[in-house]
Amino acid sequence: MEYRKLGKTGLKISELSYGSWVTFGNQLDVKKASELMAYCFDKGINFFDNAEAYKQGQSEVIMGEVIKKLNWTRDSFIVSSKVFWGGERPTQKGLSHKHIKDACENALSRLQVDYLDLFFCHRPDPDTPIEETVRAMHTLILQGKICYWGTSEWSAVQISDAFRISRELGFTPPTMEQPEYNMFARDRVEREYVSLFENELLGTTTWSPLASGLLTGKYNHGMPDDTRTSLPNYEFIRKRFESDDFKKRYETVKKLTELSAEVGISLAKLSICWCLRNKNISTVILGASKKSQLEENIDAINHKEKLSDDVQKKISILLS
Ligand SMILES: NC(=O)c1ccc[n+]([C@@H]2O[C@H](COP(=O)([O-])OP(=O)(O)OC[C@H]3O[C@@H](n4cnc5c(N)ncnc54)[C@H](OP(=O)(O)O)[C@@H]3O)[C@@H](O)[C@H]2O)c1
Repeated sequence: MEYRKLGKTGLKISELSYGSWVTFGNQLDVKKASELMAYCFDKGINFFDNAEAYKQGQSEVIMGEVIKKLNWTRDSFIVSSKVFWGGERPTQKGLSHKHIKDACENALSRLQVDYLDLFFCHRPDPDTPIEETVRAMHTLILQGKICYWGTSEWSAVQISDAFRISRELGFTPPTMEQPEYNMFARDRVEREYVSLFENELLGTTTWSPLASGLLTGKYNHGMPDDTRTSLPNYEFIRKRFESDDFKKRYETVKKLTELSAEVGISLAKLSICWCLRNKNISTVILGASKKSQLEENIDAINHKEKLSDDVQKKISILLS
């Protein structure tokens, strides 16, 4: 496992990390989550991603139990949470100073830790001035409750505003953004954020490297059972997979599957190596509901050289 700097900070984050969206509390209980997190840690993964919204806080409760059970020392891992969707009441959502403070306290208690390493604004909040959000995050840093703060799916303009406000008012600027990044979601990372990478050395913890499993090729011949597409509350993923918009994607995935066979690795590994080739990515957050998936996905780091210039060109043509 290689370690990359998280943006311009001194924090060394593993190039692959593991997140709990969908899986913790829906597919994995404490026992199974513990087996998967222990496997990740053993392979050198040091970052575990979470959010107040995941399974309405239960995902953090499970991760907290696992961390306690595995007896990791607090200085050996990085854990995150995200604030935005905390509950139905008006004060339980968004990026007001109050909700940011409450969400942080709740995450600390559910994860059973004294501080969060990374704390993300899960989406932009049009109802809260960015200045209020930046002030709230800065305050949490001064209180020692979080180390670094960042955004998720904010536009480049909104992130630039946060940097400008931080500079003007002497607050701590954001360190990292958490955007989607995979062969079908490239625009933000490859175009929109480029000036932020160059001018601010923004870090990135990217999500859905396999486009929710599509980039494994397992949907090439219809909907298999036992996947996230058949879980209650995740019908939106199945609907997206069955939509007309996706028809062209399946054709592309089939061609990518053939290319990965030529290269001699699975499509999942090829897709993860493809994300890792981008030096503006600090860490690629994996998702996995089974240990066998993690075994396959983490092994991608042993095949990075297979993504030669020639293979990259072929991928670009297939994606164009
Ligand atoms: N900030 C945000 O807004 C945001 C949004 C989404 C995700 N995230 C973060 O990013 C993490 C990763 O996202 P993701 O879970 O969507 O990642 P992903 O890699 O695109 O999808 C992971 C899912 O694909 C399937 N899979 C994985 N490896 C496989 C393999 N080798 N063979 C067959 N199937 C495989 C599994 O689902 P099945 O159970 O269906 O097999 C697995 O749970 C999340 O846990 C979360 O921490 C953040």
